[in-house]
Amino acid sequence: MNLESRIAEVRAQFDTDAQNEPDRLKSKYLGPKGLVRELFGLMKDLPPAEKGSAGKRLNEFKKELEELVSRGAKPVAAGTSEIFDPTLPGDAPEAGRPHPVMRVWDEIVTIFQRLGFDVVYGPEIENEENNFDALNVPPEHPSRDAFDTYYIEPPWLLRTHTSPVQIRTMKATQPPIRVIAPGKVFRADKPDAGHSPMFHQVEGLMVGEDVTFAQLKGVLELFVKSMWGGDSRIRFRPSFFPFTEPSAEVDVSCFICAAKGCPACKQSGWMEVLGSGMVHPKVLQNCGINPEKYTGFAFGMGIDRICMLKYGIPDIRLLFENHFRFLRQI
Ligand code: DAH
Repeated sequence: MNLESRIAEVRAQFDTDAQNEPDRLKSKYLGPKGLVRELFGLMKDLPPAEKGSAGKRLNEFKKELEELVSRGAKPVAAGTSEIFDPTLPGDAPEAGRPHPVMRVWDEIVTIFQRLGFDVVYGPEIENEENNFDALNVPPEHPSRDAFDTYYIEPPWLLRTHTSPVQIRTMKATQPPIRVIAPGKVFRADKPDAGHSPMFHQVEGLMVGEDVTFAQLKGVLELFVKSMWGGDSRIRFRPSFFPFTEPSAEVDVSCFICAAKGCPACKQSGWMEVLGSGMVHPKVLQNCGINPEKYTGFAFGMGIDRICMLKYGIPDIRLLFENHFRFLRQI
């Protein structure tokens, strides 16, 4: 009787049992009446010269099984004595990635930086002067109602737009000025698919001698073509903002249906992406800039809205609930 082939049989049996009845392994193999004990019993029939090496081999085998049992022997391929299977795919570590809003934020900022705009930031807690008054929105003016403002205590509030960063910049610097100001803004809107109490905007401002509406159009056209491709077109619609005169809302040709008409653009072929205009002379004056000498243009856009349009996200709240199952798709 060959000891080695008997060991191989027991070993194969062990693997099968490890799959079918893992709880019984210890008693069946290592107990006082176990199969390993039985193997040791075979030694008495061996010639004396072989007893030493057989004993050593059996102790090794016993140790191997003890180890497998203590590790909680898992099913292994028949014939292998290793639980570790190097051919299995590894667990890749979870890599972080930028949030979709931050990706669009970066994309917008990079485009304007290439056009020579500096990036500036302002505080999220603002005063009424910068958020409203200096922007030509006086206290009783009806346009203030358009902003559902979170007031802290006078004069402090959570900024309702990034336009106060225009004011801070112009109060601090004389022209030429060419800045963009990305950041968080807050409005006491009831959350729904299109509204969130916190969202993101980018403000743009250029002030200098002879800054014209034509330049505003040129800069925004370059922006739109960089953001959505060279075939996109841009459309200006007359509008009203207290801080610009004249004011315009800007649409981009729908990049989902190539302006043919689809649900995303409500069949119109156009998507509204930003507000803009020539800085109101009173606003320049409020900031100590001479409106006889300088002119400027400004614009503001919602980063979240552009992100939603870009990735076809139907509900703004998805952007802030931060479920991995959603974020991983983008
Ligand atoms: N602040 C405006 C808003 O939140 C957006 C805006 C419109 C900004 C026109 C501008 C502008 O600078 O010129 O609705």
